[in-house]
Amino acid sequence: MERLHSPIWTVRDAMQNLFRKMRKLFVFIFIFTGMMILFSYQDSPAFFGFPPLPAPEQYGNIMINRTSTAHNMKPVAFSHWSHRMHYTCRVCHLELEFYMQLNVTEITEEANKSGKFCGACHDGKIAFGHGKENCEKCHNGDMNFDMEKFAKLKDFPKTKFGNKIDWSAALQTGLINPRNFIFTAPADMSFDKTMELSAENFMIPPAVFPHKVHIQWLDCANCHPDVFNIKKKTTKHFSMSLCLKGEFCGLCHLKTAFPLNDCKRCHPDMSEDIK
Ligand code: HEC
Ligand code: HEC
Ligand code: HEC
Ligand code: HEC
Ligand code: HEC
Ligand code: HEC
Repeated sequence: MERLHSPIWTVRDAMQNLFRKMRKLFVFIFIFTGMMILFSYQDSPAFFGFPPLPAPEQYGNIMINRTSTAHNMKPVAFSHWSHRMHYTCRVCHLELEFYMQLNVTEITEEANKSGKFCGACHDGKIAFGHGKENCEKCHNGDMNFDMEKFAKLKDFPKTKFGNKIDWSAALQTGLINPRNFIFTAPADMSFDKTMELSAENFMIPPAVFPHKVHIQWLDCANCHPDVFNIKKKTTKHFSMSLCLKGEFCGLCHLKTAFPLNDCKRCHPDMSEDIK
């Protein structure tokens, strides 16, 4: 009994008490900062694990090699930026039936020569044809094959990512005037609703989807019904992580249109300091 009141034991008790309180405080601080980091992290590109971006002149360049090397030909380099200056996505990905997926379309030398696929334009009139002297222009296996041409676009309106070119602004200001069809003009394309797509359970400003900008490049059938349902908020499992796997918005906004790194272009109210 006496010991309890001895000064040494009082100090010990007080210390233990203090430590217990501090431990609670530390656990609280730990959890609190953890949550804060998590909340700010979900705003940051690192949260999603972005694929590395190629150099601006290589963004959208692809190397088609479904059958080439098997036929002793070098793979075919194709650049989106050089072709989209002259044609919309619709021309190739609807009229000419190129898939929006690498190495899927069954392009052959014969089909090309008979005016399909690349041969719809590479016929010696619209663009260089399929004569022997031109094989290497396509079968070159070189991702950098037309770098010098890209340098000529230095005065185009700028963005931060991808080709670092604001393609919608280039089109709207008349710097480019890509053809929207080579066979038949599309039917009614007047739908111009801007959709606000907000994610539940996340403290993130909503994304916008402007139909108007997209149908300058694309046909309704490029998105509906395969990529998106035609009714607001009914597309299942729509999320940034699936976009990053190349689905939904990521079908185009990882490889050809400005990449997902450009948060503010889709989430206009997101804070400025996100890299
Ligand atoms: C305008 C671009 C272009 C030109 C020019 C071109 N090719 Fe091709 N060629 C392609 C593409 C694209 C493919 C599909 C590649 C793949 O999927 O691997 C292809 C595929 C091929 C294939 C493999 C498939 C098949 O048809 O058996 C051969 C062989 C071939 N080309 C030979 C040639 C030869 C020879 C020339 C020149 C006389 C030539 N190509 C010119 C774009 C071109
Ligand atoms: C001149 C024709 C042409 C135009 C114009 C064109 N593309 Fe493509 N695109 C292709 C070809 C060819 C492929 C490869 C198809 C294959 O290998 O099966 C391709 C592939 C793609 C891919 C898949 C790339 C990958 O790495 O998986 C995407 C995404 C794509 N295009 C989007 C677009 C968008 C968006 C536009 C308009 C801004 C566009 N394309 C304009 C010809 C074109
Ligand atoms: C809708 C028409 C069209 C289709 C389809 C098309 N091209 Fe082209 N391509 C052109 C035109 C027009 C040019 C000339 C561009 C220029 O002078 O700026 C060109 C230029 C090129 C060049 C020269 C490099 C450059 O940047 O000018 C290559 C290589 C090329 N195309 C490859 C291909 C391949 C491979 C395919 C098929 C996978 C293809 N093209 C399909 C219209 C087309
Ligand atoms: C680049 C892709 C894309 C293209 C091209 C596109 N849409 Fe859509 N559309 C969407 C998305 C994304 C939504 C929203 C889906 C959701 O919320 O689940 C949508 C929704 C819609 C809706 C529902 C609107 C509402 O308020 O419920 C209609 C109607 C529609 N689109 C019509 C069209 C028509 C007509 C065209 C061609 C003129 C077109 N879309 C072209 C992506 C596209
Ligand atoms: C089929 C291809 C495709 C799909 C899918 C797609 N986009 Fe786009 N988007 C484009 C193209 C092409 C542009 C023109 C700009 C560029 O190429 O960088 C564009 C431009 C935009 C712009 C820029 C508007 C401006 O004025 O600068 C926004 C915002 C946008 N897309 C949001 C979305 C969202 C959100 C989704 C998914 C719901 C989506 N996009 C799905 C192809 C696509
Ligand atoms: C091409 C347009 C586009 C770009 C660019 C984009 N987002 Fe999104 N984001 C969307 C859409 C559309 C949704 C809504 C999905 C839904 O309905 O749940 C979304 C949802 C989200 C969500 C909610 C969680 C989820 O997975 O749906 C977060 C967090 C987010 N975005 C963060 C970002 C960040 C950070 C960036 C830039 C690094 C970014 N986004 C760039 C279109 C985009």
